[in-house]
Amino acid sequence: MTILKIQTTTKIPAAKASQAVVIGVKSVAQTVTPIKGSYDLAGISGLNLASLGVSEKFESITRIPGPNGVVYCLIGAGPDELDEDNLRELAGAASRGLSDFEHVIFDLPTEDLGDVSGVIEGALLGAYKFTEYKKSATPSKTTSFTLLTSVPRASATIGNARVVAASVNSARDEINRPANDLYPANYATLAAKKAKALGLSVEVLDEKQLEKQGFGGIAGVGKGSSRPPRLVKISYAPKGAKKHVALVGKGITFDTGGLSLKPANSMVGMKYDMAGAATVLNSILAIAELGFSTRVTAWMCLAENMPSGTATRPNDVIKLKNGKTVEVTNTDAEGRLVLGDGLAAASLEYPDLLVDVATLTGAARVALGNRYAGLMGSADAVSEVEAASFEAGELVWHMPLPVELKDMLKSDIADLQNAKIGNTAGGMLIGGLFLKEFVGLKRGSKSEQISWAHLDIAGPANNDLAAYGHTPKGATGVLIRTLVSLAKGMAQ
Ligand code: BES
Ligand code: MN
Ligand code: ZN
Repeated sequence: MTILKIQTTTKIPAAKASQAVVIGVKSVAQTVTPIKGSYDLAGISGLNLASLGVSEKFESITRIPGPNGVVYCLIGAGPDELDEDNLRELAGAASRGLSDFEHVIFDLPTEDLGDVSGVIEGALLGAYKFTEYKKSATPSKTTSFTLLTSVPRASATIGNARVVAASVNSARDEINRPANDLYPANYATLAAKKAKALGLSVEVLDEKQLEKQGFGGIAGVGKGSSRPPRLVKISYAPKGAKKHVALVGKGITFDTGGLSLKPANSMVGMKYDMAGAATVLNSILAIAELGFSTRVTAWMCLAENMPSGTATRPNDVIKLKNGKTVEVTNTDAEGRLVLGDGLAAASLEYPDLLVDVATLTGAARVALGNRYAGLMGSADAVSEVEAASFEAGELVWHMPLPVELKDMLKSDIADLQNAKIGNTAGGMLIGGLFLKEFVGLKRGSKSEQISWAHLDIAGPANNDLAAYGHTPKGATGVLIRTLVSLAKGMAQ
């Protein structure tokens, strides 16, 4: 993506033919009315806007000619109050819909710095396009965003918004990249390169080291593939940090299901199964770049889940990093196996908070649809993540970890089994219960587990419907903003 020029100003830029001016509209006394901003809209005030197709319907855009070749883009602002979150979505829809303009000027109502950064973030996120593989793709023409606002020191928000949006967009690129071009070894190399460029320390374990060091989950899932697994550990340890958060991401670069092979229709889309790893990678990169005073460790559990003569079989027993044995009853429940290792390893450092992110279960989509992530875990961790998601304007929903469902994980011969064959009830929750078995105890405690939250993003990680707001089709980059907010909050 072209590096966009972003500016905030109180002064209307000189009119040029390549400009789109984004103006919100609302229904006032049943009349579609532009929201008063900086532009003098006297020229269109006599028009019957509704008859031109202008509507209050959220994010519907109508183009109306303005003076000197400027185009007014009247965008429906919906019936609700325009807060930071609505503004982010609205600006995202606008920049996504106006990529044929060189200059997009936002004349939207902003009352505080939150609103300003909402508009800028939305604009940058909405401008995302994945064009790597499309010769015929029309690249965006937009090179500059201008935000008209009278909020003092508005430009101070540009830097942060840029970092956060760029990291979300990088995650989208990585997640959208097909599995023939993104696999554990080259993803580990890419991650290490990006982390080192920011001065972070990186450790990469290859398949031999994984086996030797007891990572039976990652090794076991990865051994069916000709592309061996990796574990990437990235550490950001700023001086003076008081709190430590560990982020563990599921990084299945492709999930065929393994020998418990998925049917053809369910396999499509499984390149997205590394979204959790992309989330934790791009979160730690953003947090480090923003320089928050929170220690962060990211763990990317990378493997390709393939069926082959070397693959783990149903009924095989593997031993994970914390010593627990698992009978693999379903090789398609592989995410919990790689994450079990990641959670156990992360626990050895006694972080104050442990968060995992994973496209773990189809059941999460069935339960929560395509926009909400399922959130499970210990009460304190759940409320911290909930607060951070609220701050970021992202959607999570607290789900329970019912103890009675633990019976589903009883194996006849091992400490656990990874799935109950034939069971369809509470799939997301059982996934969470399995992971809980790999969360270590707090330092010095004999019973209290480390504060832990599990985020099942199988629904929102990928948008296979139409684009909306700042969310494109395909990879969404969801929850990076939440994790960045979380680290920011822990620094205070
Ligand atoms: N990667 C899938 C989960 C998934 C499904 C993500 C659909 C996104 C869309 C995961 O590895 C999986 O296959 N889970 C199984 C678990 C089951 C075997 C216990 C599932 O959901 O069917
Ligand atoms: Mn699977
Ligand atoms: Zn999977």
